[in-house]
Amino acid sequence: MSLNGLPVESRQNGKENNRRGDREKAALNVEQVSVAFRQRKTLLPVLKDISLTVERGEFVSLLGPSGSGKSTLFHLIGGLLAPDQGRIYMDGEDVTGTRGRISYMPQQPALFPWRTTLDNVLLGQENAPGPDKEPRREAREEARRRLDEVGLGKFADAYPHTLSGGMQQRAAFLRAMLSPQELMLLDEPFSALDELTRSDMQQWLLQMWERHRRSVLFITHSIEEALLLSDRIYVLSARPASVLQVVDVPFARPRREDLAADKDFVELKHELSRRMREEKAKNTAAWAGGTV
Ligand SMILES: Nc1ncnc2c1ncn2[C@@H]1O[C@H](COP(=O)(O)OP(=O)(O)OP(=O)(O)O)[C@@H](O)[C@H]1O
Ligand SMILES: [Mg+2]
Repeated sequence: MSLNGLPVESRQNGKENNRRGDREKAALNVEQVSVAFRQRKTLLPVLKDISLTVERGEFVSLLGPSGSGKSTLFHLIGGLLAPDQGRIYMDGEDVTGTRGRISYMPQQPALFPWRTTLDNVLLGQENAPGPDKEPRREAREEARRRLDEVGLGKFADAYPHTLSGGMQQRAAFLRAMLSPQELMLLDEPFSALDELTRSDMQQWLLQMWERHRRSVLFITHSIEEALLLSDRIYVLSARPASVLQVVDVPFARPRREDLAADKDFVELKHELSRRMREEKAKNTAAWAGGTV
């Protein structure tokens, strides 16, 4: 498929195997993963034959309708769940069902109420495998500097219940960012923020990412957010989620906010929006027909 010359690719589900030869080098390879949840006597299929790749230093997004299975996929990658079929590799190593290999930011901030913001932010470093479990003074100083950068400098010693939802989310984001694992999984990190703060945070994330080039897998409902931040976007179908389309995002970096006004950006956004509306309509029709 081609969209006015833009490199939009459409691959059939399960055939996204062009990168499989590079498994050794990729930060993450999800290979033909399927999972279903048992609900009383029935099975609820949630993921169907999902394959995706995050190369080292790449920013990849998952875009899919609510309830399609995006968070479930993160739980599988994080080793909290085991797939019924398929394998998960990091740096070429089979890590299916293994915990502790990723830094993860869940949809809810999940800060510990008895720890200050600073101590919450440092948690990922304490829990990481390795001898240096006690965060060093430099790590604390670095965390204080980063808290300043996200506007939480004055709240370093405050407890989470005194922070707004958005502030908690920023602290949780920083905790994932400062964890030593190479791969970051971010589950809709900005969805609870107001539009202006969200836009500021997107710019902050772009800058951080361009500076540090961590490998990121990012869940979002926002097409614009996915296009602004990502190198590649996997568009998922409704549940059971399969890969509908893979988009290699063509815009040069560094990217700034005004990219959203670019003609190609707007075209690509409309194309993706049309694709997702079609998918939603299909899903709604299936619900109405009682087939889901
Ligand atoms: N542990 C579980 N046991 C049973 N069913 C589950 C479990 N976890 C998720 N589900 C079901 O799997 C489906 C996918 O859920 P999931 O949270 O992965 O969706 P999502 O794409 O992240 O949605 P959202 O965009 O709303 O966050 C839902 O129907 C949900 O009810
Ligand atoms: Mg979710």
